[in-house]
Amino acid sequence: MNRDKPNMCRRCRSSSRTTMPVIDKREKNDDEDESTGHLAPEKLEVLAHLEPWAEAHVLPLLKPFNAAWQPSDFLPDAAALGDDEGFYAACRDLRARAAGVPDAILVCLVGNMVTEEALPTYQSVPNRFEGARDLTGADATAWARWIRGWSAEENRHGDVLSRYLLLSGRVDMRQVDATVHRLIAAGMDAMGAAARCPYHGFVYVAFQERATAISHGNTARLVAGGDAALARICGAITADEKRHEAAYTRIVGKLFEVEPDAAVRALGYMMRRRISMPAALMDDGRDGDLYAHYSAAAEQARVYTASDYREILEHMIGKWGVQELAVGLSGEGRRARDYVCGLPEKIRRVEEKAHDRAAARAKKKPTDVPFSWIFDRPVSVALP
Ligand SMILES: [Fe+2]
Ligand SMILES: [Fe+2]
Repeated sequence: MNRDKPNMCRRCRSSSRTTMPVIDKREKNDDEDESTGHLAPEKLEVLAHLEPWAEAHVLPLLKPFNAAWQPSDFLPDAAALGDDEGFYAACRDLRARAAGVPDAILVCLVGNMVTEEALPTYQSVPNRFEGARDLTGADATAWARWIRGWSAEENRHGDVLSRYLLLSGRVDMRQVDATVHRLIAAGMDAMGAAARCPYHGFVYVAFQERATAISHGNTARLVAGGDAALARICGAITADEKRHEAAYTRIVGKLFEVEPDAAVRALGYMMRRRISMPAALMDDGRDGDLYAHYSAAAEQARVYTASDYREILEHMIGKWGVQELAVGLSGEGRRARDYVCGLPEKIRRVEEKAHDRAAARAKKKPTDVPFSWIFDRPVSVALP
């Protein structure tokens, strides 16, 4: 999603996520140098120097193959259960449990699954990072092995959710699959001109991994009472996302240690652009505002809220010691540090205003939005 062209809800003509505070002119000028500045050879050499460190501190965050869960661990297995009673009975049980999942949560689950299924797009993200990408597809560098191992772990997330949804009988699977198809074809635009910069890219992925961990974790909590098996699926995904978050947060932390000025400027740039969601271009071919409506459903169900965005930023600022940065910062670096550290409070004020508007809206009737994913059954959401 491009910052100049935010994801707008056509019903309300407003952004589907927290409106960001306006940035000042000087900060805007810093953006111009930022998008390519970290492609300088001396900045990229850092990644090569960090390879032994990545081998020792990042790769161990992947689960060994023989300890990894697989989608088939969580779902009825026809070969193991037999095609007489065993398999069908297990499927009936699954459907009976899934019948209790409210439509509002089901829509969030489908949205999360669609997001995960666009993995080909996400694997190509770190493969654009200069100095870290997998040039041949089978490079032996620690960076390349991490990218492939991470993708392999991610690959299970969409798979397990897709198989569960198929067996649940609750969703229009063709519409769901068509949405995945369209999303992969549409791609994503999260970093714009900085897409090749590892500094910016690792910031983005660290943020996203925490966001997905929150989203899957909240879904697990919300379905735990009605469908414990689905909660276990979402819980397994959450645990993966947390490990991935730990890895990317560690990488950015290291960049802050060795190149604090470049790292804080990259963080400032990404926050000024605003961290957009990877599936912002989702489209089911019917609802022109699908992403905005899915976001509104997630906000209402408390699966992922505007406050989570601020809390992730606050967490990252603390984790990377942004506030304490002093030595070795350029003027741009100091401005980026001050901008980033002041941002949570600005977002909080925007949130308070949004909260007041939401309270006013709550007095009005919520809007019934039909989702093709669930055969056009409407979900009642408060649109911004
Ligand atoms: Fe994932
Ligand atoms: Fe992830």
